[in-house]
Amino acid sequence: MVHGRAYAELRYGRYPAKGRKIGNLGTALEIAMSMTEPRSLSAATPSTSLKVTLPLLQEKKRNRTPITALTAYDYAMARLVDEASIDLVLVGDSLGMVMLGYDSTLPVTMDEMVIFTRAVRRGVRRALLAADMPYASYHVDVAEGVRNALRFVQEAGAEAVKVEGGRNRAELVQRLTDAEIPVIGHLGLTPQSLHRMGGYRVQGKSVLAAEQLIEDALALEAAGAVLMVLEGVPREVAARITEELTIPTIGIGAGPECDGQILVLHDLLNLTFAPAAKFVRRYADAATLVRNAVGGYRRDVETRSFPGDAESYHLPAEARASLEHARPRQPRKA
Ligand code: KIV
Repeated sequence: MVHGRAYAELRYGRYPAKGRKIGNLGTALEIAMSMTEPRSLSAATPSTSLKVTLPLLQEKKRNRTPITALTAYDYAMARLVDEASIDLVLVGDSLGMVMLGYDSTLPVTMDEMVIFTRAVRRGVRRALLAADMPYASYHVDVAEGVRNALRFVQEAGAEAVKVEGGRNRAELVQRLTDAEIPVIGHLGLTPQSLHRMGGYRVQGKSVLAAEQLIEDALALEAAGAVLMVLEGVPREVAARITEELTIPTIGIGAGPECDGQILVLHDLLNLTFAPAAKFVRRYADAATLVRNAVGGYRRDVETRSFPGDAESYHLPAEARASLEHARPRQPRKA
């Protein structure tokens, strides 16, 4: 799709300054097409909100100020999330399900993750931007994991990466940390372990399982992890891990005692085509909003009430008059 400046250049050779006359076609204002406003350096983000850094998140834990986090996968949503002053934006591999329509996160590839992360990078200024290491990007060996994580930093501008798993990831976390890549751990219900878990089930429900989770969390912190996502664990276990770790915990289905909370943006907006999990709170019904908007557009096109005159471009009066008086074309010979 060509639009905005590219469209004007294509049609008129050169993109004119606003309001300038172009030949006898009227003013540039008249031909200006819808275009996403580029953000100026001072735009949108409140000047009071500092760029979020890892030390800032650490300070929030110390001060018991809750950390806010959400997923985002594209430029527009990332920009809205960032402008709402969310602290951490994660390009989760959940994009496989909510953006690409896969049944699980397992088919998501590095190349897909890099494309989405680059889009989100362009929308995020204030928040810390993290990218999810997808399944198979760190499961063969540590060196491959480091190479893939470096892609997120170099090609997509990520400021941290997230890996699923416990002490079995300690070496990887250490190597990534040595390579100056901040690592977010992810414990509990880890969707990449779907088959091993036998479904998306709450983890750490027995004393033994809870102790294992606590050990895993401590091992990842010792290896250098900077944050810890706790997903689908009893709130008592998450509270205990939050107490034991010096790094912040970010919960999803892990209760209110975590240092912060994260949700999948599409869950919060009702864009998942499925009943919400127990831990989700829906803040808007975007599905209904989109259905109504698209339905309204279809109706207006079908009844010819869109576009109206105000949504149409016009010839200047002089050109219109000469067109109206122009000799009608000869009918074509059969
Ligand atoms: O992939 C994802 O979106 C995640 C978050 C839910 C933590 O891992």
